[in-house]
Amino acid sequence: MNLIKNKQCQPRTSILCLAITSLLVGCNGNKQESVAAIPLDKTAISTARAPSNIDIWPTLDIEVKTDVDIERKVASLLATMNLEQKVAQMIQPEIRDITVDDMRKYGFGSYLNGGGAFPNNDKHATPDDWVKLAEAMYQASIDDTLDGNSIPTMWGTDAVHGHNNVIGATLFPHNIGLGATNNPKLIEKIAAITATEVMVTGIDWVFAPTVAVVRDDRWGRTYEGYSEDPEIVRDYSAAIVKGLQGASDKDFLGDKRVISTVKHFIGDGGTEGGDDQGDNISSEQELFDVHGQGYVGGLTAGAQSVMASFNSWHGSKVHGNKYLLTDVLKGKMGFDGFVVGDWNGHGQVKGCSNESCPQAVNAGLDIFMVPTDAWKPLYENTIKQVKSGEIAQTRIDDAVSRILRVKFRAGLFDKPSPVNRALSGKTHLIGATEHREVAQQAVRESLVLLKNKGNLLPLSAKQNILVAGDGADNIGKQSGGWTITWQGTNNFNDDFPGGSSIYDGIEQHVAAQGGNVELNVDGKYSTKPDVAIVVFGEEPYAEGVGDIENLEYQQGIKQDLVLLNKLKSQGIPVVSLFISGRPMWVNAELNASDAFVAVWLPGSEGVAVADVLFSKKNGDINHDFTGKLSYSWPATANQTKINRFDQESQPLLPYGFGLNYGEPNVLTDDLDVSTDRMSSSLQSITLFESSVKSPWKMMISDSQSTSTMTSSIIENKALYLRTIDRNVQEDARRVIFNGTEIGQVAFTSTSATDLSPYSKVNSTLELTVRLTESQNLAEQQVYLSMDCGEQCLGKVNITKALSLLEVKQWQTLNIDLRCFEKKGADLTKVNSPFVLSSAGKLTIDFTDVFIRTNSIDSVNVSCD
Ligand code: BGC
Ligand code: BGC
Repeated sequence: MNLIKNKQCQPRTSILCLAITSLLVGCNGNKQESVAAIPLDKTAISTARAPSNIDIWPTLDIEVKTDVDIERKVASLLATMNLEQKVAQMIQPEIRDITVDDMRKYGFGSYLNGGGAFPNNDKHATPDDWVKLAEAMYQASIDDTLDGNSIPTMWGTDAVHGHNNVIGATLFPHNIGLGATNNPKLIEKIAAITATEVMVTGIDWVFAPTVAVVRDDRWGRTYEGYSEDPEIVRDYSAAIVKGLQGASDKDFLGDKRVISTVKHFIGDGGTEGGDDQGDNISSEQELFDVHGQGYVGGLTAGAQSVMASFNSWHGSKVHGNKYLLTDVLKGKMGFDGFVVGDWNGHGQVKGCSNESCPQAVNAGLDIFMVPTDAWKPLYENTIKQVKSGEIAQTRIDDAVSRILRVKFRAGLFDKPSPVNRALSGKTHLIGATEHREVAQQAVRESLVLLKNKGNLLPLSAKQNILVAGDGADNIGKQSGGWTITWQGTNNFNDDFPGGSSIYDGIEQHVAAQGGNVELNVDGKYSTKPDVAIVVFGEEPYAEGVGDIENLEYQQGIKQDLVLLNKLKSQGIPVVSLFISGRPMWVNAELNASDAFVAVWLPGSEGVAVADVLFSKKNGDINHDFTGKLSYSWPATANQTKINRFDQESQPLLPYGFGLNYGEPNVLTDDLDVSTDRMSSSLQSITLFESSVKSPWKMMISDSQSTSTMTSSIIENKALYLRTIDRNVQEDARRVIFNGTEIGQVAFTSTSATDLSPYSKVNSTLELTVRLTESQNLAEQQVYLSMDCGEQCLGKVNITKALSLLEVKQWQTLNIDLRCFEKKGADLTKVNSPFVLSSAGKLTIDFTDVFIRTNSIDSVNVSCD
C-alpha cells in the first residue's frame, strides 16, 4: 500500500495534492484568479484578525458564475426592503414552532422541518399533507398585507439518505455505505432521485451533502461521512451537488432540482475524541487538506449554501469564527451563496444565547437556524443590534443579498407556487420502482466482505437456511438514524410501505430456487439448518446520542456473540451480516463466523443484500462483492483514530479492503479478543445516556397498563414523561407524577442481566437528577428499584436523598448495589435495573444512568 502521508499538501508528490491540482487549483499558491464580482462585505474582511495562513485556501473556479442580470435584481429588491424585512430573511424557524400566520406576519426567508418533524405533527402525513403545508407557507410568505413583503420563502429539510422524513420514500444506504461503493456516477443518480422525491412534497432545499471526513469513529455521525479520507468525499460532494441542483450548463435549479447544502463547515469530522459538536485542533493545513476537500468539490460544482458547524476550531465555535466564515469561505474561496447556521448553533458562541447573537452575524452567518420559540426574541434582538450599530447595516445587506441571489438563481420568483410545480403531488414518484432499483444497486455495491472461510459464500438457495438475529426482519434497524424519526428509533416494518427487510430478500431467493428458510430471532429451529445467516448490529442513533467511548461492539452483555457461538457449537456454518454506522471491534464475533459481511445501514431496500449472498440457480455468481472499506477496520477497541496512510499502527483490515468472490480469505478464527479494559475486569454499564441503551427500553406503567416510550412525549394515568434538553438536544427526561396513583418509569428488557458480579466489586447505580422547584417531599415517597421478575424486587426509598438536593441543580445520586439486594432483589436476573416510582405529586428530571464499578466512595443515598 502506498504510505505517502496525506496530512500535508506537500511534498508536491502527494496523491491528494496532485488530484486537487488537476481538479481545479494548486496547493499553496498556483491559484486561478477568478469569479465573483459579488457585493461582499469588504469592510468585514479587511478588519478581520490577520489570518494564520490564508494562502492555504484556494480561490475556487466555481461553475455558477455571477449573472449581472440577477445581481441587478438583487440590488433593486434590496433597495426596497426595510430592516424588519431584511432580518426576517435571515431567520429560519422550525415547523413545530411557527404557524402559517406567523409566516404571514413576519415573512421569514426560510423555514425547516427538523429530523422527525412532520406536517400536523403526524408521522404518517401523506405527500399531499407536505405539499399543503408548503403551499400555505409560500402563500403566507408572498402575502404582503401585514409585512409589506412578497418574497417567496423556502423550505429546507434533511433529506440525507433519500427523503427520509417522509413515509414511503426511497431510503438509500447511509453515506458510509455509499463511500464503500466508490461510485460517483451512482451517487449523482441517488442525489437526483432524492431531489425528485423532495420536489414531490413541495420542498425547495436539502441540507445535504454532509462532507465530514471522519477521523475518529467514536463520533455518533460517523455514518454520515462517506469516508475517513478526503479523496472520495471531494469527488462525491461534487456529484451530489450536481445530482441535487442539476448541472450548471443544463437544468441548474430547474423544475426538478433543489438547492443543496454542503455541511458542516468546517472540521466536524475531526473533533477531539470524536466528540459531537466538540473541538477540532487540526493545523490550518490539515483543516484544508482533510476537512476542506468536500467544499472544494461541492462549492466548485456550485452548491448554493453551506451550513456552519457546531464544532469549534481551537476552541472557537465556527458559528462565531469570522476568519473561517468570511475571510476563508466567502473571501478567499469565493463562495457567493449563503451560510446557514445549524440548530441554534449560534447560541453556543461565547457570549451568545439562542435569543441573541450579533457575533454570528458579524462573523458571516447569513441565516440563523432557530428552532424552538427562540426565533422571536432573536428576530427582535437582531433588529435592535443593527439599530444600535452592533451589527453593521452593510453586513445585513450582504447577508440578504446572498439569500436573494440564491432565490433568484433557484427561480423562486418565477416558479409557480408549490402546489403547481412540475413534480408536486406526483405521489407515484415517492418510492417509485425505478428509484428503489437504484437504491438496490447501491445496497449491493456497498456490502463489504470481510471474511469468507472456505468460500462459504455465495450460498446456494436450495438449502435449509436459518435466519436469526434481531436485524434480520427489521427495516428500522437496518435504516439507522435520520429515518422517519430523528434518532431512527421506534420505527416498525409497517412504517416502510414498499420497503423490504434483509430477510425478505433471502426468502425470495430461497422461494425461487426451492430451498427452505426459517426465521427465528433467537436462532431456534425445527429442522437443523445447513447454514445460518445471523443479522445483528447497532441500534439506530443520530448525532451525539451515538458518541461512544471505544469501538467494542456490545460491551458488557454480548448477546449476539452468544447466539453466534451457540450456532457454531452445533456445527452450523454461520454467515454474519453486521449492521453498523461505523467499523467496530468485533474480533470475537468474527472468530465465531465463517463469513462476515459489513452491510452498514442499507436503508429501505434490504431485499438487495441477498442478491449478493446467493448464487444463481446454476451455481454461478449472481452479483459479486465490489464494496471496499472507506474506513479502516480496527484491530482493537481503542483503535478509534486509525485512518488511511496511518503509519503508526496497523488496522485489522486497511482502507480499501474488501474480498471478491474466490479471493483467498485472510482472517483466521483466532483473532485476539483480549482488550485493555477486559484485563481490568468489570466495566461500568451505561443504562441511559441521551437515550436508553440496548437491550433496555424505557417503559411507563400505571395501575392498569404498561407502555413503551416511542416518541418524545408519553403519558398514562399516573404520570407524564417527556424529553428535555440538558447539554444538547433531548439528552434528559422529565417525569411528572400527578399524585393520583402509583406510576413508574423503568428501563426494561425481555432478557435478564446478571449484575451479581457488580455488587461484589463495590458498584453503584448512579443517576443524575434535578428538582425543578422545591416540592414538599415529606409526603411524596419516591423509590428507586431493581426488578428481577415475578415477586422479585429490591426497592430503595430515595425520598430523603432527594430532599437534600439543591433545587434547579443537576446532581448525582449513587446507591450501593448491595442495597437493592438487601431489599430483596436477586441481582443474578435483573430485567429492569432502573425503576423510578412514586404515588406522590412531584416532578423529577433525570439523565445519565450507569452501573458504576468501584464507586462505593461516592454513595450518597442511604440504604434504609
Ligand atoms: C444537524 C444538521 C441538521 C439540522 C436540522 C442539526 O442538529 O447537525 O445536520 O441539518 O439539525 O435538522
Ligand atoms: C429535534 C430534531 C432535530 C434535531 C437536530 C432534535 O431535538 O427533535 O427534529 O433534527 O434536534 O439536532
